[in-house]
Amino acid sequence: MTPPAVRDATPDDAGTVAVIVNAGIDARTATFETEHRTTGAMAERIASTSPRHAFLVAELDGVVVGWAATYPYSPRAVYDGVAEYSIYVAPDAHGRGVGSALLGALLDRARAAGLHKVTSRVFPENAASLALAARHGFEVVGTHRSHARLDGVWRDVVTVEVLLL
Ligand SMILES: CC(C)(COP(=O)(O)OP(=O)(O)OC[C@H]1O[C@@H](n2cnc3c(N)ncnc32)[C@H](O)[C@@H]1OP(=O)(O)O)[C@@H](O)C(=O)NCCC(=O)NCCS
Repeated sequence: MTPPAVRDATPDDAGTVAVIVNAGIDARTATFETEHRTTGAMAERIASTSPRHAFLVAELDGVVVGWAATYPYSPRAVYDGVAEYSIYVAPDAHGRGVGSALLGALLDRARAAGLHKVTSRVFPENAASLALAARHGFEVVGTHRSHARLDGVWRDVVTVEVLLL
């Protein structure tokens, strides 16, 4: 099987990127967001990625099947160097190493950009995301109990982080 090829996203990828994240939104296992992302919104996000951050896509046999991005944890200056990440792989490409290729490349880029820490919040039921994070050196630092509502139900989230020192 051909390994995934990871590259920087361009605004032309926005339509596929939106379809992939919207599948994750519909699954209700990845994010508190419930509204679909538009192609325009994703194109804007890709185009506005700052040089310290990255928006990557992964291809299998020339077809984009996943994306991952870092973005600032907070606008406050004290958190400068701390990034959050998002990662989504098309459901029919799960379990083929795409997420791992994306997260590995994203951390390489974060290190090269001099970022200090990368973190994310994951639903405790999201075994794939927790396994992927652990595989790349993330540690679970705690659980926020009843942290936000999804479809009206308060849900826990697990915080994972990796220091890039
Ligand atoms: C989480 C996600 C990105 C993982 O991507 P993927 O391409 O399926 O993952 P990979 O095939 O690269 O597997 C990465 C690791 O996770 C493990 N893994 C994958 N799916 C798993 C599952 N359902 N349960 C347990 N472990 C799993 C793999 O065995 C692998 O571990 P290893 O390297 O130690 O063998 C993907 O499932 C996804 O897009 N989910 C929906 C969106 C989402 O939840 N995003 C994260 C929001 S926090």
